Formats: sequence, structure tokens, C-alpha cells
Amino acid sequence: MDFSAKTGSAATLRTDCAVVGVYANGRLSQAAREIDAVAGNLISGLVKRGDFTGKAGATLLLHGPSGIPAKRLLLTGLGEQGKLDLKGWRKAHGAAVSALLKTAAKNAFSFLSMEDVADGEPYLLARHAAEAAEETAYRFDELKSKIDATPARLGRMTLWFPDRKSQSAAARGFTHGKAVADGQSLARRLGNLPGNICTPTFLASEARRLAAGNAGLKVSVVEEAQMKKLGMNALLSVSQGSRQPPKLIVMEWRGGPKQKAPVALVGKGITFDTGGISLKPPPAMDEMKFDMCGAASVIGTMATVVALELPINVVALVPAAENMPDGLASRPGDIVTTMSGQTVEILNTDAEGRLILCDALTYARRFEPSTVIDVATLTGACVIALGHHLSGLMSSDDPLAQEILRAGVDAEDRAWRLPIGEEYDEGLKSNFADFANVAGREGGAITAACFLARFTRDLKWAHLDIAGTAWKSGRAKGATGRPVPLLAQFLMSRAGVA
Ligand code: BES
Ligand code: MN
Ligand code: ZN
Repeated sequence: MDFSAKTGSAATLRTDCAVVGVYANGRLSQAAREIDAVAGNLISGLVKRGDFTGKAGATLLLHGPSGIPAKRLLLTGLGEQGKLDLKGWRKAHGAAVSALLKTAAKNAFSFLSMEDVADGEPYLLARHAAEAAEETAYRFDELKSKIDATPARLGRMTLWFPDRKSQSAAARGFTHGKAVADGQSLARRLGNLPGNICTPTFLASEARRLAAGNAGLKVSVVEEAQMKKLGMNALLSVSQGSRQPPKLIVMEWRGGPKQKAPVALVGKGITFDTGGISLKPPPAMDEMKFDMCGAASVIGTMATVVALELPINVVALVPAAENMPDGLASRPGDIVTTMSGQTVEILNTDAEGRLILCDALTYARRFEPSTVIDVATLTGACVIALGHHLSGLMSSDDPLAQEILRAGVDAEDRAWRLPIGEEYDEGLKSNFADFANVAGREGGAITAACFLARFTRDLKWAHLDIAGTAWKSGRAKGATGRPVPLLAQFLMSRAGVA
């Protein structure tokens, strides 16, 4: 979808569809009033009769409205007047686009940007409008032999902005919003692809494909033989029960000053998690194809970084493997020596994410990163703690934790901090190795982070547990592409562009 910023009057503009707001109390927005005045009280009449209430997220489509040149008119509920914030703005725009996609409109002009939105400077309004539009328009139908929905025709959205200054700020917002949305859509696609297609090898080829189109992006892959030489025995122990060879994908973007230490992003890429010998129960096991959403978000974020050519150095590391039960699979009680030299007793083969991440985190050291952030669908316990709305954030570095929380708020992709520390770490003790890969059931998201902290002691490191936020279950089952918006915002802020 293309986005642009223009000015003009709702009553006289030529467009396939004019999008105007109505508040919950039936109060018309300014654009709605302008149309109402020339269209014989069309909107106020509807509201008076109770056919449209202006509830947040509600829409009503009118065809061929008389008195204005727009071919269609889309009323969009904005909720209570004076309470519209960026979240409500996103919701309203998403709802409008959702309604527009069901029509044959090829373009639309939105006047919603005339409204007062808290913190709604033109850049942010444009950026969030673009992100919400693309998020709504996203479809995953590449594996259906017949596509039942009519193809969307909406190709251009124009937003009202009054002058040159706000229009150029909005143009920046559209560019950033589209780049973030494209990264997020890529993450969703990789997440939605099933385990028989999206293997570690497939992820590596997708990373390479991204690099093929961008000279500045360098992609290399550490293969199994090299992993053995490097002593990545924790990672290897996870993939040894699978016919799929593991991959450690390395993506490097050097957009910043040469000598500046990079940010390292590390994403869990378990392309399917059966639990291994500690086999998972059958219900909803198909959702374990989403266990590579950390990897997907890191790859998606790199796509955003490259699209915007961010002036920053970033290295993305994706340990990718499949966790299967098999004659060669590791057993509960097996002890492996990690690349760091520390030994781990694998008490539960279903706690495999931390095993692939720990070796990737050790490998990350060779890039001498200024900051390391790992992203993983790591624990069911995090879903119990935070539900599906906020990602779990754990870090021993307060300023870094604050910076990440801030990025989440700005990007409307929030995280919530959980503690880590010695008391929790004690649960990992083992009678036979340096420590075990699991503690008790309690505080499971935290003890998982404590495990990772044993590999990142002297690094500026944070861990995002996205088990609750990376995908949706039920009727709307599918990958969300989170936390691409958070990660992209973090890097854009570091790069000083947003
Ligand atoms: N990929 C799962 C975590 C997960 C489970 C995410 C359910 C979303 C929904 C991870 O590999 C796992 O199995 N974790 C175990 C850890 C436990 C054995 C300590 C878990 O959470 O049950
Ligand atoms: Mn598991
Ligand atoms: Zn897993």
C-alpha cells in the first residue's frame, strides 16, 4: 500500500472513499460536520436514528453519498471525545482499513488525522497509520490452493495534513511505518509457515535472500561441522534428534561508524518443538511451529534496518534447530559442555530454547557487542505471568531495561519487566554438572532468564520472552510479528532517527 499526505476539504475532495470520524457521544468530527452540511444532514441523521454510535472500532460504509464527490463515505468510530490516544488512533485506522478492504475502493482519503490525538504529532500519526494499515491488510494464503477472499484493491491511502511542514513529517512517518510493517509482515510469514517448510535450512535461505537484495547486508551460516569444532554442544544436543541439520545464521549490518560496537540481536529459532524425549502433550502442539518467532522477529527487524539503511551497526544471530524425539535425541540426565566451557545437565529436553541460545550468546562475544538482546518464545510460564498482551523483559542492566521498555511504549508493542537474581538462580543447581537446564515450575520465566544470565555475566544484556505475544491462538491463530516494532524502535532511537 502507498501512503501520502495532502490537504483539502472533506466536502469537495474526489476519492474512492472519504474516511471521517464520529465520537462515541454521537458528536461529529470536523470533517464529518463539513460533509454533513453539504450532504443534507446525512451523518447527523444516521447518528440521530441510532444507526451509528461512534463506538471505538465501529465502522459504517455509505455508497454514493449525495452532495459530495467522494464515491463512498466511511464513518469510523473514535470512542469518547478527548480521549483519543495513539492506541485508539491505530485501532480506528485499522478498523477503517479493514472495512475498505472489503470494498472495491482503490484509494481512500482519511480525515481522521484532523482530530486531536494525545502525543499525536504528524510523524507518529502517519507512522502508526501505516503500521496499522499494513497489519490489517496482511494475509497468509500462500499455502491455500484456492483463495476465497476477493483480492484487496486498496492501493493508496492519503491522510489529511494541513501544511508542508506536517506533510513532510508525515512522509517520514509513512516511510518508517512501512519499513517496520514490512519487517513485521516478514516475521509473521516466517512464523506462519509450518515446520515441514520452515526448517533451519529454510530460515538460512530466507536470510540469504534478504542479503541478496541488499549489498550492505552480510549473511553467513555456521554449519554443523563448524559448530562441533567450536564446541557448541548445547545447541547440537537439541538438534541431534532431528533429520534437519542445525544452522547458526549470522546477519551483519554495518550502517554506523566502523569502530562502533554493534548491537547484537539473538533470536530463538526452534522450527518445531515437540519437547524431544520430554515429549509435549498433544493439545495445540501444532502451535510449536511458532517456536522460531524470536528468530523471525530478529530477521524481520534486520529487514527494517536494511530498508531504512539505519546508521547503526547491528548483528543478528539466529540459532536454528528442530527439537524431535528420536533414537539419537538427548535423554533427560544427559550432560553437555557448552561453548562457554560450563557443563549443563539436561533434566528436561523441552527446555531446549535456552540450550541453543546459550551457545549463540557465547558466539556473539566475537562481535564485541555494546548490547545484546535475545528474543525467544522461551517459557509457558511467561504466558501465565503476563498473558498475551505484554512481552516479558528480564535484564540485570537497569538503563538498558528502561530503554527497551520505552521503545515498547513508543512502538505500541509493550514489554513488562520481571526480576532476575540469585534467589531464583539457585533453583538451577545440579548434583552432576555445573548447573541444570531447568529449575522448579515456579517462576519459570525468571529461572529461564537466570540460565541465560550465566552466559552473559559481563555483557550489557537483556532477554525478551515473547511466548505470550508472538502469536495468537484460536480463531485468529497466527503469528503477530511482535516484537519487531519494539526492536525496530529500539534501533531507530539508538540510531537517532526516531
Ligand atoms: N517453546 C516452549 C515454550 C512455550 C510453551 C511457549 C508454550 C509458548 C507456549 C519451550 O521450549 C518450553 O517447552 N518450555 C518449557 C520449559 C520447562 C520445561 C522448564 C515450558 O515452558 O513448559
Ligand atoms: Mn520446549
Ligand atoms: Zn521451545
